[in-house]
Amino acid sequence: MNRIIVTGGLGYIGSHTIVELKDSYDEFVIIDNLSNSEESVVERLRTLTKKSILHFNISINDELELDRIFQSITPKHVIHFAGLKSVKDSEEKPYEYFLTNVAGTASLLNSLSKHQCENFIFSSSATVYGEPKYLPYDENHPTIPINNYGRTKLAAEQLINQWATLNKVSSLSLRYFNPVGAHSSGMIGEKPVGVPNNLMPYILEVISGKLKCLKVFGDDYNTKDGTGERDYIHITDLARAHVAALNYSKSNRANDVINIGTGNSISVMEIIDTFKNSLSIKFEYDIVSRRPGDLPKYFAGTDKARKLLKWKAESTVLDMCRDSLNWQKHYNKL
Ligand code: NAD
Ligand code: UFG
Repeated sequence: MNRIIVTGGLGYIGSHTIVELKDSYDEFVIIDNLSNSEESVVERLRTLTKKSILHFNISINDELELDRIFQSITPKHVIHFAGLKSVKDSEEKPYEYFLTNVAGTASLLNSLSKHQCENFIFSSSATVYGEPKYLPYDENHPTIPINNYGRTKLAAEQLINQWATLNKVSSLSLRYFNPVGAHSSGMIGEKPVGVPNNLMPYILEVISGKLKCLKVFGDDYNTKDGTGERDYIHITDLARAHVAALNYSKSNRANDVINIGTGNSISVMEIIDTFKNSLSIKFEYDIVSRRPGDLPKYFAGTDKARKLLKWKAESTVLDMCRDSLNWQKHYNKL
């Protein structure tokens, strides 16, 4: 059977990627301990893909259980999404972040080396670069992360690089920029636990009335309108980058890192204005002081992704805001 192992496959990026891979595989084997996702996503994925979806509720740190699964299901192709992703929490709970993102990755790799893995794709982050020495960040930019989350992602990348070389596995670490939006069906999307830290989920909760007012963290940066700028990428574009990455990894012996962004830099005010002017959604916001640790602006160099993966992002900022809103409407009913 043509199947793929997806760790963290019930989460935000994993679930969207499975949907985009539906024409490439007959079965998706998800390893997800539900620490930041819900079992109900399994059924939604079955509906969206019409493919076999198996879910194992185990941790990537549990190497014995991984071995048991891989004895009956050969992990030829693997995408590794499972991990913790909050910059703020990573500063408060460094041990937890290293345990999951680094030791968890080591446990997964150790198990895979016993079970004939051929292709491995890893969810890394633009956070590995740190303070921009120049922009756009290209893949040769120095990697000096400024928070523990970024340090764990960089350590995992380095581990994967060495493991892939030793085990002759084709591997790619994809450095994502800022994923936003949701599947156009509105059936899957990002569901943060507690008060969201990130811009788009926060805006959605202000629009739905769960939160009162967006705090815009600073309007005195040296950016186009003073507010922070990021490279927001539609989740479906990001998911499709994994389809391209798997195709590339299968036909080339890769061991590389690739940025996955749009190459555009969008400000917080531009996002607010897109909701207001193009979707007629107005919400309250206040300009407050800068958030400690925030960089003013960064965006992706996309040449490598275009050249190697033959992939580029297609969606506009309006698509990102519209699909986020659509998910919010459905999500409120779930
Ligand atoms: P998410 O939290 O929605 O998904 C991660 C999934 O992994 C969740 O379903 C969670 O239950 C699972 N998980 C966590 N720890 C686990 C463990 N020990 N064993 C098994 N499953 C475990 O996050 P996401 O936004 O989908 O991110 C996926 C990956 O992409 C993460 O590794 C994250 O660091 C990386 N990333 C995310 C962003 C972003 O902004 N969302 C940006 C760059 C990189
Ligand atoms: N922002 C606000 N108000 C909010 C939230 C965010 O003004 O309530 C601003 C921030 O100051 C920043 C921009 O919106 O200028 C984006 O902030 P996010 O928190 O959405 O995203 P970050 O770029 O700070 O961080 C995200 C993820 C990290 C990841 C990084 C790079 O949270 O995990 O992108 O991929 F590492």
